[in-house]
Amino acid sequence: MTVASNFVTNARRQPFLSGHMAPVPDELDVPGCRVSGELPDRLRGTFIQNGPNPRFEPLGRYHMFDGDGMLHAVDFKDGSVSYRNRWIRTPMLEAEIRAGRALYPGLADLMSFPDPALVGGAGPIKNPANTNIIQHAGRRFALYETGMPVEVTADLETLGVRDFDGKLPCGITAHPRIDPITKEMLFFAYSPIPPYLRYFVADAEGKLVHAVDLPTPAPSMIHDFVITEKHAVFLDSPLLFDMSALTEGGPMVKYTPEAGTRLGVLPRFGRAEDMRWYEIENGHVQHFWNGWCEDGVVEVSGTFNTNPQYGMDMDGDLTESSASAQAGVATRFKIDLARSTATAERFDDMEGDFCRFNEGRNGRRTRHHYMCGFRGERSTIGLFDTLVKYDDRTNARATWYTGEKHHIGEAVFAPDPQGTAEDDGWLLFTDHDHVESTTDVCVVDARHVEAGPIARVRMPRRLPFGFHVNWFRAEDGEGKE
Ligand SMILES: [Fe+2]
Repeated sequence: MTVASNFVTNARRQPFLSGHMAPVPDELDVPGCRVSGELPDRLRGTFIQNGPNPRFEPLGRYHMFDGDGMLHAVDFKDGSVSYRNRWIRTPMLEAEIRAGRALYPGLADLMSFPDPALVGGAGPIKNPANTNIIQHAGRRFALYETGMPVEVTADLETLGVRDFDGKLPCGITAHPRIDPITKEMLFFAYSPIPPYLRYFVADAEGKLVHAVDLPTPAPSMIHDFVITEKHAVFLDSPLLFDMSALTEGGPMVKYTPEAGTRLGVLPRFGRAEDMRWYEIENGHVQHFWNGWCEDGVVEVSGTFNTNPQYGMDMDGDLTESSASAQAGVATRFKIDLARSTATAERFDDMEGDFCRFNEGRNGRRTRHHYMCGFRGERSTIGLFDTLVKYDDRTNARATWYTGEKHHIGEAVFAPDPQGTAEDDGWLLFTDHDHVESTTDVCVVDARHVEAGPIARVRMPRRLPFGFHVNWFRAEDGEGKE
């Protein structure tokens, strides 16, 4: 167990380090967590959250994207539930542990590179690996928005940085898509400097088999993308990097509607010249649900946001309001490949994000789509209060509201191993009581979202805000796929 010395004291006013985002100071192993309700017998596997948890007092202004990645694993096995958390030991964090203090600045001061004598081979910019945790070809990787994958074990120990046998030229985003049939992993990278967009495919064995640069007119912050059985679908939104901000101040990312918004469709193994772009109305999608192609029409959906703000105005006053967010609303995009047209159709007005679905059907038509929504007043980043399920066939919406003293994290779909219907399974997510400062991991029957949790697992202590969660089935354990 590691207990951090020189831990974050939060002495300076830092909205991204207070309340639900306050970090925890150490690593725990706790067997026999308290369970209320009834856990399904067939729910066997591990729920893992990745999120920012700075190990040392930040050097200056802290953004939630900066914090060292920490994994929280909740293991469901033979009727009992255990908890474990570990920092992801990136080379940058290892250098800071050796120094006993933070060495890397955050996004607010990215160009103040650390002393090379102190960080050695870890490099000038930190990859905190704090955004997602995935499994491909029997290996687990912690991912960041622009970082090289960091491999971890099922026990959350860090194995090291991975670069696909030296073939991966740059850091990648945290949202690969894995084809459930071919087992290929499709992923991409964006950068403020050319090439702005790069696309990759790894085969079922984890070998990089396709890499292509995709020219775009300006550097867009592209957080997520979608696949069909035959395509990769990209959003080129006007959420653009402004490199002058690095030296002259001002927001590093600006919403610039005059740049326009497009969806791009590329054959799965396409070259740059095969990309086709389709104009849509202005907006940004942080997370997509699924995508598919039927009868020459590519359909994707996601939460569409016409005024995206992610608290990245690093020059403004540091207040709670600088961390406020407008989330998107559920929107369906259809691209008619023969007619070269694209449309956007909103199908709900509830704001939300963290789009998820039964990913065993990635790239194929799905009926049920899940998200975290806001029922209450417009809220600070991450304070979702409502679990939402959309039925694409009936246009029905089912919701479960956690109450005004609570907020919830991303809900992942854990399939019932004996299930046959698309929504046979459970949704797992964190539910935080921000008055009592406690966290439960909740289990909801995905067929009956409105009924709320059928079981709750009390965490040994409050879990800090996390970005993405995933479910790792026991039968898919390390070394298997
Ligand atoms: Fe994300």
